[in-house]
Amino acid sequence: MPEPRGLAIVGYGKMGKLVEQLAPEFGFRVALKLDEFNNANFEGLTAENFRGVDVALDFSIPSAVRRNAEGIAALGVNLVIGATGWLDHLEAVKRAVERNGTGAVWSPNFSIGVNAFFRLVAEAARLLAGQPEYGAWAWEIHHSTKKDAPSGTLLKLVEEMKKAGYGRSIDTASNRAGTHPGTHEIGFDSAADTITLRHTARSREGFARGALQAAQWIAGKKGFYEFSEVVFR
Ligand SMILES: NC(=O)c1ccc[n+]([C@@H]2O[C@H](COP(=O)([O-])OP(=O)(O)OC[C@H]3O[C@@H](n4cnc5c(N)ncnc54)[C@H](OP(=O)(O)O)[C@@H]3O)[C@@H](O)[C@H]2O)c1
Repeated sequence: MPEPRGLAIVGYGKMGKLVEQLAPEFGFRVALKLDEFNNANFEGLTAENFRGVDVALDFSIPSAVRRNAEGIAALGVNLVIGATGWLDHLEAVKRAVERNGTGAVWSPNFSIGVNAFFRLVAEAARLLAGQPEYGAWAWEIHHSTKKDAPSGTLLKLVEEMKKAGYGRSIDTASNRAGTHPGTHEIGFDSAADTITLRHTARSREGFARGALQAAQWIAGKKGFYEFSEVVFR
């Protein structure tokens, strides 16, 4: 059996703990865990800590992603970014990965089903773009501890609709309540009918498995990728 690869878990919250449990199934050994206690000011991003780490997986908080990504790329380590709410820094993170010749995969949603859903929604938007009687909405609900709203996934769905040519306004709403792992809904409505497209996550496990699949794929590679490019290549 091949030696397990070294994994750094950055952000040891709900997702980080799940990734830790599932990592051995994907051929990873957890070599390092960084959290708010040992990395609040990014002091955990040292060559010594990252010795033996092949891939780092960031499920931390929106405000930490850019500095984590820049520090990890500078250490020559590949990265998977699962945290959301950092897209204002996308170009800076991409530049850091390219400058250091490392690899990274990011996605606001590592569920395979949601990545298929992005494409289904884009196709519906493309078909209805030229039918002005149809208005559109975008809605999501998540657990009450989620820090960003609207979710990164909802923003991506709206962006895909626009890219597909849907130029009219898209009314967007978010709810935060209970322990819900995430539902996203896109709808089109006219005087004649309603189309509702909905993805419902049953648990966080699909996100963790997708992120670990991305970590397996990026190990030893260079370049900056979005997960949908990896899943549907
Ligand atoms: N892409 C996907 O498929 C997907 C799926 C689920 C969730 N997410 C995203 O992943 C992120 C984590 O979700 P979660 O539910 O696991 O949240 P969570 O339970 O709040 O976990 C985040 C953890 O990161 C810690 N942290 C804060 N600053 C840090 C730093 N500088 N370095 C390392 N860790 C730090 C937090 O500590 P404090 O609590 O003290 O701040 C917390 O323990 C969120 O952005 C969420 O939206 C993405």
